[in-house]
Amino acid sequence: MNRIPKLNYTRFIHNWLLSRYAKIPYPLNAQIEITARCNFKCGFCGITQNTDLYNDREMTTEEIKRIIDQLADLKITTISVTGGEPLLRKDCGEIISYIRKHGCIAALATNGWFLKERLLSGVLNKLEYVMVSLDSVDPERHDRYRGVKGSWQRAIEGIKEARRRNITTIISSVITAENFHEMEALAKFARDLGCAIEIMPCEDIVRLENGKTFRAPDIQTKHWVPNLRKWGRQIRNLIPRYPNLTTDYFTARIVEEGGFGYTSFRCNVAKAYIFVRYNGEGNWPCKIHPILRMNLLKYPVNKVYRSKEISQIMEKSDSYPFCKGCRLGCAVVATLTTKMISVVQKFVFRVFLWSVKVG
Ligand SMILES: C[S@@+](CC[C@H](N)C(=O)[O-])C[C@H]1O[C@@H](n2cnc3c(N)ncnc32)[C@H](O)[C@@H]1O
Ligand code: SF4
Ligand code: SF4
Repeated sequence: MNRIPKLNYTRFIHNWLLSRYAKIPYPLNAQIEITARCNFKCGFCGITQNTDLYNDREMTTEEIKRIIDQLADLKITTISVTGGEPLLRKDCGEIISYIRKHGCIAALATNGWFLKERLLSGVLNKLEYVMVSLDSVDPERHDRYRGVKGSWQRAIEGIKEARRRNITTIISSVITAENFHEMEALAKFARDLGCAIEIMPCEDIVRLENGKTFRAPDIQTKHWVPNLRKWGRQIRNLIPRYPNLTTDYFTARIVEEGGFGYTSFRCNVAKAYIFVRYNGEGNWPCKIHPILRMNLLKYPVNKVYRSKEISQIMEKSDSYPFCKGCRLGCAVVATLTTKMISVVQKFVFRVFLWSVKVG
C-alpha cells in the first residue's frame, strides 16, 4: 500500500483552516529549486535558455537546511525539491532526509536520468514521493523532446526502481499537439507501472528574470502547445477510467477557460506556495513573475511571509497584467489546494481511491 503520511494531513488541515477561517495566511507547500543547471535540453523548457543563471551562486547544503528550518516553522506540509535537474547536486539525498526530519513530506521532481543510480547508492533512502518526467510511451519521441538520447530508458529504469522500493511515483507528462493522441496510452502505461500520472498541456511559459523575459525558443512556431479544449475533453474522458490520473476536473476547467484572469478560479499561489530559488531568494507572487524578491538567508521566510508587502501581493491575486491566460501547473495545483471542493475531490477522494487500487 502507498503510504499517506498522517502527520502531514494534520498539518495541512491546521494550515488550511487557519488560512481560511482565521484569515492568518499559512502556506501549504513549498518548492526549493536547488539548482538551475540541467543535463537536458527539453525543447519546451525555458530554464535552459537563461544560461546566465548557471554562473550564479547556488545555496550551500547548510544554507538550504536553514531555509528548510524556516519553512518547517511555518508548519509547511510538503517541500518539493526541483530544478533544473535537482539530482545533479550530490547533496540532494541529504536535503531530502533533512526535510523528512522536520516531519514534512519530501517530494522530488526529476527528469529521471540519475534516479536509479542514486536510489541504488542509498542516498535517496528517505525519499517517499517522486515525480518523474515522461512525455511519451515511444522512446524516440521522449528522447527527441528531452534532447538527450537514452533519456526514456533511464527514466523508466528510475521509475521501476522507485516502485520496487514502494516510493509513491508520479509520472509527469507534457502534452503537445504531436503526442496528444498518447494521453490514454500514457495513463495506462503509468497504471501498469504502479504509478500515478499528471498530464498537463505544454505551456508557453514566459519567465521574468532581472528585468528581462525569456521563454523556450520556437515554442509557438513548432506547435508545442496543443488545442486546450481537446486536451480538456480528453482529460474528462480519462478521469473516470484512470484513478491513477491526478489531473482533475478543476484543472481541466481552469485550462479550458483560458487560464487565470479568464476563469472564476483566482490564482492563490502567493499564499499557498512558497517558491525558493537556488540562490536563496524567495519569489512573490510566483516563480515566473517575481515582482518581489527577498533574500531568505538574510530575511527569514517565517517573518517575510506575513509582511505587509507580501499580504498586498496575496490580495492582488491574479489581477496583474502578466497573469492573463497563465496556467502554470504548480500555480493551478497550489490554487486548488486552497478550495474546499477541489481538496475533497482531488486530494482526498482520488488519492485514497488510487492508493487502494494501486495497493
Ligand atoms: C522544470 S522541470 C524540473 C524538474 C526536472 N528537471 C524535470 O524535468 O522533471 C518541472 C516540470 O516542468 C515541466 N515543464 C517544463 N517546461 C514545460 C512547459 N513549457 N509546459 C509544461 N510543462 C513544462 C517538466 O516536464 C517537468 O515535469
Ligand atoms: S524540463 Fe526539466 S529536464 Fe527539461 S530542460 Fe527543463 S529542467 Fe531540464
Ligand atoms: S496567475 Fe500565473 S503569473 Fe499570475 S501570480 Fe499566478 S502563477 Fe504567477
